Amino acid sequence: MSASTNPKPATKASAAPVRRLTVSDIARLHADGQRIAMITAYDYPTARLLDEAGLPILLVGDSLGRVILGYENEIPVSMDDMLHHAKAVVRGAKAALIVGDMPFLSYATPDQAVHNAGRFLAEAGVQAVKVEGGRRSAKTIEAITRAGIPVMGHIGLTPQAINQIGKVRVQGKTREAARELLSDAIAVQEAGAFAVVLELVPEQLARAITDRLQVPTIGIGAGAGCSGQVQVLTDLLGYEEWHPRHARPYANLREVILGAARAYRADVEAGTFPGDAETVRMDDDVINEVLGYSVLDRPSRSIPAGGIPLDRDL
Ligand code: KIV
Repeated sequence: MSASTNPKPATKASAAPVRRLTVSDIARLHADGQRIAMITAYDYPTARLLDEAGLPILLVGDSLGRVILGYENEIPVSMDDMLHHAKAVVRGAKAALIVGDMPFLSYATPDQAVHNAGRFLAEAGVQAVKVEGGRRSAKTIEAITRAGIPVMGHIGLTPQAINQIGKVRVQGKTREAARELLSDAIAVQEAGAFAVVLELVPEQLARAITDRLQVPTIGIGAGAGCSGQVQVLTDLLGYEEWHPRHARPYANLREVILGAARAYRADVEAGTFPGDAETVRMDDDVINEVLGYSVLDRPSRSIPAGGIPLDRDL
């Protein structure tokens, strides 16, 4: 990333103003031959860290449904779910370009698409939206971009179409499917998308699409020939024992979280948490007075017969 497109992270210590990246910055990175790292984000504290790490694009993906909300797939995710999480990510990340993923049935008609994409920008504060589908979504992408809203396309495996596709598998392996995917990529670019996600596409086809497009391709399970890569946060951080073949866990948060939770539980059960370091004390004289202990009736001395007088001002 060039100095001009790499604003300082928004830490409390740095008072330097932070400039948010725009789609023009992403185009410049691509023109400079810089590979683009994108990652999904769903909450405020993680978005802060991802921003501090310098990720140029954060995607509030509808994978939210599976990896955060515990649904079986992306279908049940609503606009309200997406807006709620997108707002938190925008509050956390001050420098990254933030893309909101249009959920299932939120862009069934161009009018509805423009309305919901507009909500993403106006209510959540994201800078762009993502729409699944190639030629079938070209009119929608055109309508949204015409409204002044940058769009990222998404072709190959499109999780919202899982009931049509049947199962999660690599797309574009046959002659016909490869030609269709090429046409989809070009249609999405011509409709005005500023970038295109290629999900689960064979390496050679993804590379050929990348070579033929002017806009960057962002691959997931599409090999190293794309202009950039995107990964689902929980795969990258190792929340689960299982991860998809295309993912590389860069951390093992499952073990970190399990270890921390087990150690905490053991300390609470043993009475060793909280200890002195985590405990606040007050002046003994103050608490003694509040509890009605005078010099004469401190715990070391016997409580007067009949207990503490009821008319004492506590
Ligand atoms: O929702 C998501 O996480 C995505 C990525 C897989 C590109 O769409």
